[in-house]
Amino acid sequence: MHYQWYPGHMTKARRQMQEDIKLVDVVLELLDARVPLASKNPDIDELAKGKAKVILLNKSDLADDKITVRFQKFYEQQGAFVCCVNSKGGMGVKKVMETVRDACREKIERDRARGMINRPIRAMIVGIPNVGKSTFINSFAGKACAKTGNRPGVTKGKQWIRLNKELELLDTPGILWPKFENQRIGLHLAMIGSINEDLLDQNELAIQLLEYITTNYPGSVTERYQLEECSDGEEMLRQIAEKRACKKKGGELDLEKMAGSVVDDFRGGRLGKVTLEVPEEESGL
Ligand code: G4P
Repeated sequence: MHYQWYPGHMTKARRQMQEDIKLVDVVLELLDARVPLASKNPDIDELAKGKAKVILLNKSDLADDKITVRFQKFYEQQGAFVCCVNSKGGMGVKKVMETVRDACREKIERDRARGMINRPIRAMIVGIPNVGKSTFINSFAGKACAKTGNRPGVTKGKQWIRLNKELELLDTPGILWPKFENQRIGLHLAMIGSINEDLLDQNELAIQLLEYITTNYPGSVTERYQLEECSDGEEMLRQIAEKRACKKKGGELDLEKMAGSVVDDFRGGRLGKVTLEVPEEESGL
């Protein structure tokens, strides 16, 4: 399977982000907890150099809790502050404020020493498409927050959301483009739906997902689809299509359509809480 890349969008997004990062004290990078390696764009570390950094392992409701904890430690060991969140349900979102404060402690103390008290921390959200940036902003900012509008000294047109007297959030998140350093990253991003569907072979995605889940989460696939134990993804897909009578007009099995449903089941968490990576893999990526 080959994945395409759009350098034009990337260049523009990167330039915009470079400008925005200059305005903030802390960068909140959202990762997808199901693929915390593939959903990370390594460029952000360079772009956000010198800024405080918080990593948010989002969609943790869909990921394997045990592996999420391992990733939390893994990124903490690399010097980041880390929170596990479920932006959709709101779980873990409240704790983010506390973590941002911890990440910015030095800045707060520096400000205080200079007599600058009550100067709000400025933050921005970054992440690859579909990782949950807008959902997180809505959940984090809540309904009660006010937009501050344009302010002197701030690039015209920038909108800040004032969360409380301590924190202002740039209302437009920075879009990082996923980096396809190898086919596995591309495959993982395809599995979570972060790259254009048209470019993908759904059958291959479904087959690989079925095999991965069967190996790492025994029982999930057989339970969901009422199948016999089997380790061959192609055979599993065929069996599922037969069970569901998923057929084309002529009566032939519609494997493509069935594959789409399997991928949707995975994305919707109906195959259980599944993480596709483990921290140790980093060296192999
Ligand atoms: P983006 O700004 O980074 O592009 O992502 P966005 O917030 O639009 O979220 C992309 C999808 O991910 C949305 O689903 C959103 O509901 C879902 N999502 C975001 N955070 C979480 C989370 O923590 N857990 C779960 N389970 N889902 C999350 P959608 O299908 O596109 O929209 P909707 O039908 O949910 O509204």
